[in-house]
Amino acid sequence: MLEWVKLPERRSETGNIVIAEVEKDVPFAIRRVYCLVDLDVETRRGFHAHRQLEQLVICLHGSCRILLDDGSRRTEVTLAQPNRGLLLRSMIWREMFDFSQGCVLMVLASEHYDEADYIRNYDDFMQLVGVPSDSFS
Ligand code: TYD
Repeated sequence: MLEWVKLPERRSETGNIVIAEVEKDVPFAIRRVYCLVDLDVETRRGFHAHRQLEQLVICLHGSCRILLDDGSRRTEVTLAQPNRGLLLRSMIWREMFDFSQGCVLMVLASEHYDEADYIRNYDDFMQLVGVPSDSFS
């Protein structure tokens, strides 16, 4: 479930360049890029899975935590490095939290925005992945 993508970097005394190229680093064609900025440090967000969408999440500045749940396993990781992207495949429930002040997340996505691709109810998600929703309690 945890798939990290190490992005190549060009480092120099005047600054660093982090690169993400489709096929080499990003395993899908990018159809959308969006950024999460001005994040409330107290907020927990996400609370959804996607039916088809694949995403590469990159923390450009600061840090945050992300919970991943594939219906049978849960794990939490820290995103904190611009050269270390987290690949979110379809049918992964995600929640993001513990945003540092000024945290900036960039998301590379395989499809345009489509609300019909979201699964926003956890019980629906568990039904779709075929696991009884009380299996974590
Ligand atoms: P959402 O993906 O639920 O945010 P998060 O997972 O960070 O909590 O999106 C929040 C709102 O923004 C929702 O009303 C849909 C809208 N939105 C778009 O219109 N286009 C987009 O590309 C994204 C990612 C969200």
